[in-house]
Amino acid sequence: MERSLVSDVTGRDMQRGSWIRKMFTEGARLKQLHGAENVFDYTLGNPNFEPPARVQRRLAQLSADPQPGMHGYMNNAGFESTRRAVAGYLNDHQALTVPLNEYQVVMTSGAGGALNVILESVLNEGDEVIVPAPYFVEYGFYVDRHRGKLVAVDSREDFQPDIDRIAAAMNDRTKVILINSPNNPTGAVYTRETLKALQTAIEQKEQELGRDILLVSDEPYSKLVYDGVEAPPVMNIFPHSVLATSFSKDLSLAGERIGYLAFNPLNHDAVGLFNAAVFNNRILGFINANALMQRVIEETLGSPAAGLPQYLERRDLLYGALSELGYKMIKPQGTFYLFPQSPIPDDVAFCRAAQEKLVLLVPGSGFGRAGHFRMSYSGIEPGQIQRSLPAFKALAQQFGLG
Ligand SMILES: Cc1ncc(COP(=O)(O)O)c(C=O)c1O
Repeated sequence: MERSLVSDVTGRDMQRGSWIRKMFTEGARLKQLHGAENVFDYTLGNPNFEPPARVQRRLAQLSADPQPGMHGYMNNAGFESTRRAVAGYLNDHQALTVPLNEYQVVMTSGAGGALNVILESVLNEGDEVIVPAPYFVEYGFYVDRHRGKLVAVDSREDFQPDIDRIAAAMNDRTKVILINSPNNPTGAVYTRETLKALQTAIEQKEQELGRDILLVSDEPYSKLVYDGVEAPPVMNIFPHSVLATSFSKDLSLAGERIGYLAFNPLNHDAVGLFNAAVFNNRILGFINANALMQRVIEETLGSPAAGLPQYLERRDLLYGALSELGYKMIKPQGTFYLFPQSPIPDDVAFCRAAQEKLVLLVPGSGFGRAGHFRMSYSGIEPGQIQRSLPAFKALAQQFGLG
């Protein structure tokens, strides 16, 4: 009776992901031992700002004036009025040649739900999903769960996708190219030029294969951009595309699980894709996206990102101070992450040394790019950032930066 009931696949994946768990356990232990205020936690991508006032007002309004049935099931795609509002928003922002309608939008349980739904909808056994590396850790598990094979392709030094390498990685098993801009973990925002070059490479391969390759754009950070940079709308670049996104980061609604999939009307099988996604929203057990939140975002779609000026202040503070200490990194133009080079090639050893100084970081190798570490400034105030700098200075000295 000693054999665990946990499945082999889950056991294996939990083992693979165990370094994340160990890191959080160690972080929690250090906080208990030294007091949370004395531990500098740069690990969590969890916004610590409240949702914008418009969102709060809409929530208050809905609870003050409840409508019959508003907490019940609806179509598995989501409320028609919400989907229509999302389609209208995208028509204003994606510069589409063919306008989107509510039958090209499926409301989902965040971007994570959206990605699982679309991967389940399109992947056959062994189909390949190309992802520029480094990439969001969960992609590997998602692709694996839906019968696919993740093919990580190293990005350039500036963390723009390497189009030649992606072109070389495409083959007759390539079904999906999954991009994420603004990018977790690098903070890079893909340029329009790079995206257009990617489309040219995809189109060439599509012609050779005689079938479409689906571009999935995971973009929950699209509104978290700085320096006047905009994340280019992808739908007018990639005809065979789907957006997977959420309001987790920009409206600080991560725990409320609300997002959507939007299909480019130029997909050859846009209706088939929509129907498959609606079916899988149901079958994967999401059933439908959070009902109350659908009503909220329907009215608040154009809201600016919560906490944007504060994130900018933190980025500038950290980028400036770490650069001065000799750390090398690209200046991120989006998200709330920095992805500096580790002063030593072994990023795990460096993160361990940082932990000893009560600074919690995530090794880049977990994201498919060793020799770097990821810092999230989503949950750390400028005062605490300042107080963590002596530890970074000591680490710089310890590892010979300067
Ligand atoms: C790149 C990326 N995609 C998807 C997600 C999942 O977002 P959500 O909370 O909307 O499911 C995250 C969350 O950190 C992310 O960083």
